[in-house]
Amino acid sequence: MPLLEVRDLTVEYTTQRGAMRAVDGVSFAVEAGQHLGLIGESGCGKSTLGRALLRVLPRNGSIAGGEIRLNDRDLVTISEEQMRRARWRELSMVPQSSMDALDPVYRVGDQIKEVLTNRGDYNRRAARERAVELFALVGLAKDRLSNYPHEFSGGMRQRAVIALALALEPDLVVADEPVTALDVIVQHQVLKTFRELQERFDLSVIMITHDISVVAETCDEVAVMYAGKIVEQTSVERFFHQPFHPYTLGLQNAYPSLHDANRVLISIDGYPPDLIDPPSGCRFRDRCPFAIERCQHEEPPLIEVAPGHRAACHRWPEVEKLRSLAKEAATWQKRP
Ligand SMILES: Nc1ncnc2c1ncn2[C@@H]1O[C@H](COP(=O)(O)OP(=O)(O)OP(=O)(O)O)[C@@H](O)[C@H]1O
Ligand code: SF4
Ligand SMILES: [Mg+2]
Repeated sequence: MPLLEVRDLTVEYTTQRGAMRAVDGVSFAVEAGQHLGLIGESGCGKSTLGRALLRVLPRNGSIAGGEIRLNDRDLVTISEEQMRRARWRELSMVPQSSMDALDPVYRVGDQIKEVLTNRGDYNRRAARERAVELFALVGLAKDRLSNYPHEFSGGMRQRAVIALALALEPDLVVADEPVTALDVIVQHQVLKTFRELQERFDLSVIMITHDISVVAETCDEVAVMYAGKIVEQTSVERFFHQPFHPYTLGLQNAYPSLHDANRVLISIDGYPPDLIDPPSGCRFRDRCPFAIERCQHEEPPLIEVAPGHRAACHRWPEVEKLRSLAKEAATWQKRP
């Protein structure tokens, strides 16, 4: 049985223009010890999905339907008190901005100790020892525990937030763009720390990112989101070598290749649709060079296109042809 099973999850925001469905009928599972990358461009619903898992949505956001099964119960329906106990102990989050996770007026060490004593069963002395241990785990010197957040560099702050998220040994960490603000060398160090922790503690991670190279470096499995929906999910290996969805093909074109440094980068023109009034049919159709009449009115279901590989595109049986055409810059210039 998977550690986490999300079924048909829908999350809405109330806005002045009407209800916005930022996550729309999303289903996926995470196994114990698995590292799932959640990828997609800005505004596709990644953070909303991550925050819904912990039930820490902004005031105007709510879970409109679906299930989030973790350790044999549904996090959508348990009481706020039960959810409070599950946070930190069973699942925790590294939020998109590390400054959001740390209170600027408290010393970082005190913040970690507070989680250990208030949310866990640690007494003050054990909490002190555990804080030192956690700092060592993420590569921070123990004398830094007495620093305030602003005395840390971006990379150090990010490590401190990871230490905080790991404080009570959760089964699952949702890490929202944990390295986006960091330079490439520090990025690599922080991702390496994640990978080591995963192996050491059998930790499951949902790694939210818009960066394909982060997925390549740390993940076993990838889910691609577009306009509130998962459009493709598969192993990292297949994601890079046998992608099915035209949006995934487009994303890969937009990033430098490890194997072909001279490849010309091709971007996907246009923007994702307005989620208050999404288009009929396939949500990618206005940017997809392979769109056909059927894509205008019939929504492609997310179906198994190969063992352990799901994709939502009407033209998946022609994938070999689409992959080859997608490599040409000209293909992406003649959109519908
Ligand atoms: N509090 C809010 N109220 C209304 N709409 C919101 C709110 N938060 C997010 N949204 C909208 O929900 C959609 C999904 O936003 P979300 O932050 O989940 O995207 P994301 O994939 O994490 O993007 P990014 O890569 O920029 O972090 C976007 O259209 C966004 O404008
Ligand atoms: S369903 Fe149609 S528009 Fe959507 S990705 Fe496939 S070919 Fe493109
Ligand atoms: Mg986000």
